[in-house]
Amino acid sequence: MQFFVDTADVSEIEALAESGMLDGVTTNPSLIMKAGRPMAEVIAEIAKIVDGPVSAEVTATEKDQMIAEGRKLAAIAPNIAVKLPLTWDGLKACRALTGDGFMVNVTLCFSAAQALLAAKAGATFISPFIGRLDDMGLDGMKLIEDIRTIYDNYDDLQTEILAASIRTTNHVQLAAMAGADVATLPPAVLKKLVEHPLTDKGLEQFLADWEKTGQSIL
Ligand code: G3P
Repeated sequence: MQFFVDTADVSEIEALAESGMLDGVTTNPSLIMKAGRPMAEVIAEIAKIVDGPVSAEVTATEKDQMIAEGRKLAAIAPNIAVKLPLTWDGLKACRALTGDGFMVNVTLCFSAAQALLAAKAGATFISPFIGRLDDMGLDGMKLIEDIRTIYDNYDDLQTEILAASIRTTNHVQLAAMAGADVATLPPAVLKKLVEHPLTDKGLEQFLADWEKTGQSIL
């Protein structure tokens, strides 16, 4: 499973890249707003830090404008994935931009039928939003499972499932079990993945016992 980080905070991305666990980055207009910097500048910096796909989202809602914005964003760096919303215009723009040879991440996916359309439009990634479905009392993880089932039924559907709107480490674990190809994680969730109280407790005990031996490995 690949890990992307869901943020436009450059210093945060730099720090996480050092872990060797970062395969890409996703951003959206809300994250760009949070970063408080010009989008093109931020995306260019991120694309230099990370070799893998960096999603940059269009804000137009009409197909031709989406295509124009997508081409402009894709020109920032070779590893840009143009992010498009799951609308008819977005799907048509997806077909055009993947035809140009660009990576496309179709976002705001809340049903397996939508994911099927995105795959038929040639999307590189589909982004089902787990947390926002859970927030409504629905089962976000079921959506990942359903999309996996559908995509596995057809060899011609090559779209990768990018589990998005992840809120917890359990979401990451369950998305991996459900067969998501990628998970995009908020930085805090990525950092938390390593944590377990029994790991801390066990290490403390090992080090205390080692101290008693008076030995040193080096
Ligand atoms: O980038 C899309 C997605 O991950 C947003 O997550 O937490 O705003 O629902 P969230």
